[in-house]
Amino acid sequence: MRALSLLVTLLLPVALGACGPDEPQFGAAGVILGKPLPKESATGGAGGGVFGADYDANANKPTTTMSAAHAAKGGPAASDTLDCLSCHTAAGSAKDKAFSFGGRVVRGTSPAVDVDVVVVNGAEKLGPVKSDTDGFFWLLGAPVKAGSKTHVRSAAGIESMSTALGAGAAASCDSANCHVPGKQGKITVP
Ligand code: HEC
Repeated sequence: MRALSLLVTLLLPVALGACGPDEPQFGAAGVILGKPLPKESATGGAGGGVFGADYDANANKPTTTMSAAHAAKGGPAASDTLDCLSCHTAAGSAKDKAFSFGGRVVRGTSPAVDVDVVVVNGAEKLGPVKSDTDGFFWLLGAPVKAGSKTHVRSAAGIESMSTALGAGAAASCDSANCHVPGKQGKITVP
């Protein structure tokens, strides 16, 4: 009995290891929207899937950065735990600049620059917007509706949030229980 459990202990890591790492070319499981097939040319696709056009680092760029705007107007300094919609709503301290959504996207431990973010609810498409030089993104506009789906894209591919958003404040990506360290973790792109 002891020998058997020892054998299982020894062989289990081998069996698990046999599964191997995820196939890196396709990103997270189920996320192949907008990607070329293995033998398809990258520019020959149907136009970027949910983003409506192929990735372009210069499209939809913001005219300012979150840090520059906040430095000029008294908003908080950059961090990974800024709850944008605690201020950028009709009732908040930044009510003249209410957002549909906002947050920060990273690659590894660095901010991810020039990432596309889009929120889709049926025929309604909010964005895409581009992340700024510190990885912050935002869209000025009305609150999102419950059931909206979120997608982010870098030159290397698309990541989609599997869970749909709730209405309004749920689109504050970096609020306390969402994309902050120790909770869901930051939004990341390849
Ligand atoms: C503690 C409150 C607060 C938080 C949290 C906050 N902001 Fe702000 N932000 C402000 C204030 C105040 C302004 C100035 C609003 C104005 O000009 O009327 C501002 C302005 C901005 C502007 C300039 C908007 C424009 O069109 O002029 C951007 C961009 C911005 N914030 C991005 C963000 C992002 C992205 C987040 C979340 C990652 C965020 N902010 C979180 C308070 C906040």
